[in-house]
Amino acid sequence: MAQFILPKNSKIKKNGNRHSVDAANSKAFKVYRYDPDSGENPRYDTFELDLDECGPMVLDALIKMKSEQDATLTFRRSCREGICGSCAMNIDGKNGLACTTAIEDCKGKEIRITPLPAMDVIKDLVPDFSHFYAQYASIQPWLKTETPEPSSKERLQSPEDRAKLDGLYECILCACCSTSCPSYWWNSDKFLGPAILLQAYRWLADSRDEHTGERLDELEDPFRLYRCHTIMNCSNVCPKGLSPARAIAETKKMMLERAV
Ligand code: SF4
Ligand code: F3S
Ligand code: FES
Repeated sequence: MAQFILPKNSKIKKNGNRHSVDAANSKAFKVYRYDPDSGENPRYDTFELDLDECGPMVLDALIKMKSEQDATLTFRRSCREGICGSCAMNIDGKNGLACTTAIEDCKGKEIRITPLPAMDVIKDLVPDFSHFYAQYASIQPWLKTETPEPSSKERLQSPEDRAKLDGLYECILCACCSTSCPSYWWNSDKFLGPAILLQAYRWLADSRDEHTGERLDELEDPFRLYRCHTIMNCSNVCPKGLSPARAIAETKKMMLERAV
């Protein structure tokens, strides 16, 4: 296996699971570590960073830890702009995106960073999204139509119909909402959870989609939709400011309307 040699920095010292730094403006991060190949139990490592030499976001801190203190620290990131959703994790007890969470907004003496809750962990801060993505695929997240496509142009929407997708299309599938929902923790095998239900409603709300009835049939189930008990953690935590709870309420309303 390749060995990563970190550049020497005389200000950094390692003592057991603690990496300390000799700096006037330092901050400690307590980071969840787990390597299934080691056979060892999960643990916390503490990394002290010199904030005067670190970017402002939690993701900057993680990148600094990895590049200067422990190259084996594992986490996902890509866009560093709150677009890809891959850096979702639990920061000081709240799910969020590491790239859009400012270090200065984390007020504790130590910032505790753990993987998204209630998902299996592949390594360190990397959760296993397989089940989440399978649930996403199950709602058939694409436009389903019966009428032939217009030959000369796209399927158009009025500005009013297009506006109904606002607050839905922006979802980046980061799973911060689903993994903060107690109903999802307990029933994620059968309950779709807020992220996937928001996505399901995105297609129910689309004026161009012609499979609304079938989509509602798929959701009409004591678990898939109705395990939402309006706990609201999902809407409180969404880093994009979306409201999965509202999307779920709208879906339940559609169910009622078609029943009467
Ligand atoms: Fe993430 Fe928000 Fe989409 Fe949930 S609704 S997956 S929290 S962007
Ligand atoms: Fe869960 Fe949100 Fe419903 S937190 S119970 S999906 S309102
Ligand atoms: Fe893409 Fe954070 S790195 S959302």
